[in-house]
Amino acid sequence: MIRRLLAGNVANCILLALLLAGCSAAEDPGQTVWQNNCKVCHGPGLAGAPRIGHQADWAARLTKGTDILIDHAINGYAGPGGHEMPARGGNPSLTDADIAAAVNYMISQSR
Ligand code: HEC
Repeated sequence: MIRRLLAGNVANCILLALLLAGCSAAEDPGQTVWQNNCKVCHGPGLAGAPRIGHQADWAARLTKGTDILIDHAINGYAGPGGHEMPARGGNPSLTDADIAAAVNYMISQSR
């Protein structure tokens, strides 16, 4: 009886570990931040925002380097065309790490 219980627990732990590993592998935290905060503009290209997945929108921006792009997303940025990227996408509760993850996600989809 005890042995069976123990065996069951071990099996449950392995199952749980597999499930947890599966969840964290499937979900990119940058993607979640992006969907909740950036997609509204960077999906359709609202207000002149560079669209995700459109290499032509990103090619010139990517030459600035990822650090600059992250800095502009954190602090805000007004481009030469008069369009404006609001600081932290307008959500001050996002951390620098959240923003960096979202930028990395967006450019990984747009190269
Ligand atoms: C209200 C609309 C809006 C939201 C929300 C928004 N952006 Fe932007 N973003 C823009 C616009 C417009 C530009 C283009 C500015 C320009 O260069 O003219 C831009 C540009 C950028 C750039 C390029 C900056 C550069 O130097 O070329 C990055 C990176 C970026 N956004 C990241 C993000 C991230 C990450 C989020 C979510 C946390 C986000 N944006 C949310 C409107 C938005």
